Amino acid sequence: MNIKWDGEKYTDSFAFVHRYGNALIDMIDGQGLSVLDLGCGNGALTKELSAKGYDAVGMDASKELLEIARRSYPELTFIHGDAVSFDTDKKYDVVFSNAVFHWIDKENQPRMLLNVYNALKNGGQFIFELGGFGNNVLIHGALKTEFEKRGKKYTMPFYFPSIGEYASLLEKAGFLVRNAVLFDRMTELEGENGLYDWIKMFVKKPFENVDKNLEEDIINSAVHKLKERLFINGKWYSDYVRLRCKAVKP
Ligand code: BEZ
Repeated sequence: MNIKWDGEKYTDSFAFVHRYGNALIDMIDGQGLSVLDLGCGNGALTKELSAKGYDAVGMDASKELLEIARRSYPELTFIHGDAVSFDTDKKYDVVFSNAVFHWIDKENQPRMLLNVYNALKNGGQFIFELGGFGNNVLIHGALKTEFEKRGKKYTMPFYFPSIGEYASLLEKAGFLVRNAVLFDRMTELEGENGLYDWIKMFVKKPFENVDKNLEEDIINSAVHKLKERLFINGKWYSDYVRLRCKAVKP
């Protein structure tokens, strides 16, 4: 995952990412356990875990976000590490991750799951959420249409698996799947340009070789088309679908 984040904007305008993560914390069984928050970003959920009595450590591949995490929560430990390549001597009771794994290519998921398996104690819990099958189908569909209208190919930059596909990967990595749910969660975005800002923040890869003016044109046209479906009672929404799972290392 080699993403350059605008950490301040992410923290200010996309706070819902960690707000929704609180329900995931409630899936942890037990008190005072050691928890690795994998892909901790700005550390907001590492802080929540710690506030709920867990011995939480955050790990992230982004130096920009880690800097914000360390500045915001100097009392906590944050480690630099990539989910696909990390290795740790310490074994944790829980590996926790919110809204991270869809950034990892399908080919790299087995490596990441093996690292998580190795980081857990026997009996350890793996609790996570990512974008699931059908996530942002309206947004990516509209962008694809606008790319193709201009003779360009749109490649979806995320991995959004179904329950069956991901449960199978978890089992291959040695986990027992205890719980897996796929559900819609229309999510309110902040501000009058909420959807435009969301696309600019999160959908960067397809625009890497696209001229800036053309990028603006594509995004503005997609946003215009999406208004009918994703602008509801004066607010912009993202058509999220979540895949939420709990698995254990036997
Ligand atoms: C998600 O949380 O589902 C997500 C966020 C940003 C980009 C893609 C997916």
